[in-house]
Amino acid sequence: MITAAISIETFVATEHQLDSVTAIESVSAATPWTRNQFAQEVANPHAWWGLARSGATIVGFVGLHQVIDEGHIVNIAVDPLWRRRRVAMRLLLAAFDEGWARAILAMTLEVRGSAISAQRLYHRFGFVPTGIRPHYYPSTAELPAEDAVIMWTEPLTYPDQEMRLARVRAVLKVSP
Ligand SMILES: CC(C)(COP(=O)(O)OP(=O)(O)OC[C@H]1O[C@@H](n2cnc3c(N)ncnc32)[C@H](O)[C@@H]1OP(=O)(O)O)[C@@H](O)C(=O)NCCC(=O)NCCS
Repeated sequence: MITAAISIETFVATEHQLDSVTAIESVSAATPWTRNQFAQEVANPHAWWGLARSGATIVGFVGLHQVIDEGHIVNIAVDPLWRRRRVAMRLLLAAFDEGWARAILAMTLEVRGSAISAQRLYHRFGFVPTGIRPHYYPSTAELPAEDAVIMWTEPLTYPDQEMRLARVRAVLKVSP
């Protein structure tokens, strides 16, 4: 397994960042967010968006919403040319670090029931299924409507959760 040399930067909606994120989103999501939605997200004081960069190239992004003491991962995607190089792991780790800095207690997200690769990724960070939102994802020209699996982590301060993140850091060779 190759682990790409990646740096993380905050999404501040420069033209280059918006172009890159919109392009990655358009080839990653069944119902892609628009450039305008991303621009609005960056202005949301309760949100943090991180970008993964290799040299001058933006190769992935992650979005975190803070709802009091909950952290919601609202979107994550990696350029198809850069997948399976642990870019998403690096992005999620950065989102957890941001969550920790904001005193977030636990993290949650929704994922398509059919998105097995994403669920494997989330499992490494301690997300476990806790419920279903029926027909959460509307049908598209290519896909039927689909349920969302709701996933939650344990509180970030629990020793088991800290251990999981320590294992992720070790794999990525990233220090706390
Ligand atoms: C899901 C996604 C973000 C993963 O990005 P990635 O950078 O390729 O993921 P990583 O390389 O960091 O993978 C980390 C772990 O996730 C799991 N994983 C990721 N992609 C996988 C795949 N295609 N098959 C099986 N496991 C996979 C593995 O456990 C992997 O660890 P390993 O490499 O040690 O086996 C990427 O495939 C993507 O952008 N998909 C389209 C958008 C999407 O589905 N977003 C999630 C919406 S909820």
